Amino acid sequence: MYPTHIFASTDSTNRIALDMAKKGAPHGTGILAEMQVKGRGRLDRSWYSPAKKGLYCSVIVRPQLSVEDYPKITLVAGLSVAQTLIRTCACQCSVKWPNDIYCSGRKLGGILTESSSFPQGSDESFAVVGIGVNIRNSQEDFEPELTTKATSVFLETNKIYKIEAVFQAIRLELLRGIEIFEQKGFEEVLGRWKELDMLQGKMVRWMQPNGEYLYGKSRGPDCDGRLIIQETSGEYHQVLYGDVLLKDR
Ligand code: BTN
Repeated sequence: MYPTHIFASTDSTNRIALDMAKKGAPHGTGILAEMQVKGRGRLDRSWYSPAKKGLYCSVIVRPQLSVEDYPKITLVAGLSVAQTLIRTCACQCSVKWPNDIYCSGRKLGGILTESSSFPQGSDESFAVVGIGVNIRNSQEDFEPELTTKATSVFLETNKIYKIEAVFQAIRLELLRGIEIFEQKGFEEVLGRWKELDMLQGKMVRWMQPNGEYLYGKSRGPDCDGRLIIQETSGEYHQVLYGDVLLKDR
């Protein structure tokens, strides 16, 4: 059994997990909150976290991996969340590079991985995998700007799931995914990730550092976790950060 700390309300489970990990909390420790008042998203965005509607959790991991491999943990986590929701909730979702879970063209969940800055090879190295999934939200439970962009497990399946049970299943799958990464390498994870890739072969756009969009077909992540986009000229680009959107969205 892995330790689990449950809070009625917190600012951010990632913030708590980072504090606990710095104090030595073990691999697999989970932090779960019924609501968050300062839920954090990727790229400095916030994560809307109304009480008892979503899964808001963080898992501390201390993988036997080099620190350069840590960014790939986000892909492992996204895959683990999607596989769990498909298996245990019959929610047919997909993954979107690098950290999103989508269903019916709308966002169902996201991952925010934050890691330690200990030196390479240090036993103290860790990553905190923050996971947010909309579980029980009805359409009116979303903020107005999210109503056409977000979905929930309830909206997709018409079923109400126990949030803590979904958390336990996701944590087990995440820790299993990390073990596969450690023992068989990232290629093993990547093969499975690509089977659920929402953007595979689709025309996408990515905002380049100069503010202009790059258009091309998404060819999926490479073995370093970077997204490959192929322009119509045939030229390949490796995308490391930012948002990649379907071309006509
Ligand atoms: C994203 O899609 O931008 C990532 C969202 C991650 C949200 C989760 S909710 C639990 C954990 N604690 C946080 O503050 N953020 C993550």
